[in-house]
Amino acid sequence: MKDIVLHVKDIRSLQLLKNVHSDYVPWTGASIHPTALLYLLNDITIHRRKHIVECGAGISTIYICSLLKSLQYDILFHTVDHDRKWLSLIRNYLKDRDLLDYAELVHAPLTDHKECFNGKCTWYDTAELEDKISGPPIDLLFIDGPPANDDNSEYARYPALPYFKPKLSDDFSVVLDDASRRGERLITRRWQEVCGVTFKQSILKGDISVASRGNRYNVL
Ligand SMILES: C[S@@+](CC[C@H](N)C(=O)[O-])C[C@H]1O[C@@H](n2cnc3c(N)ncnc32)[C@H](O)[C@@H]1O
Repeated sequence: MKDIVLHVKDIRSLQLLKNVHSDYVPWTGASIHPTALLYLLNDITIHRRKHIVECGAGISTIYICSLLKSLQYDILFHTVDHDRKWLSLIRNYLKDRDLLDYAELVHAPLTDHKECFNGKCTWYDTAELEDKISGPPIDLLFIDGPPANDDNSEYARYPALPYFKPKLSDDFSVVLDDASRRGERLITRRWQEVCGVTFKQSILKGDISVASRGNRYNVL
């Protein structure tokens, strides 16, 4: 789990998450916080999401697939990753547990991108995204990739919202992980200016920033 303080809430979240998926999962420093994961699963369930897109596959992908298996209606779930080997590892994990039907795994390598925070950046190859992601408007966008954990990549997730904003439903949540990092804090500020979408940061919800529209109910 992330190397920041694990709140008491995370312990409770881990207990609740066992109801969704009880097999061993390899939590690491790269994984989402348990409370942030609970937030995502609650959002999917409470707002009856129809099309979820995740940038950055991993533990979150496994839990989302497990939840989708238990929900009795059609939900489209695309998860995007730049790392083919990592994605095949996730594919095998899902396949071994009959969960592969619940996600479309999209490999999109990182290429030079036009809409960066400042200067040059790489982001998922948009030709791959155009080709492989279709369906109803996206009502849950979870941004936890590409990796952005050093000075050279701190703005790596900026292109996500300018790219996906036109594809969002009228009623949506956008959840950005690692919200307390410097890069992510500056990114959400710029998104507000450029995309007109306001984010609320919450360390207590597992270090995520959330922007939502049309949502009526509490998620956590
Ligand atoms: C922050 S991670 C995404 C984590 C994912 N959403 C989760 O909750 O586990 C960003 C990227 O790092 C890579 N990654 C994920 N887990 C990893 C691990 N345990 N070790 C190294 N890289 C990892 C993947 O390519 C992923 O897209």
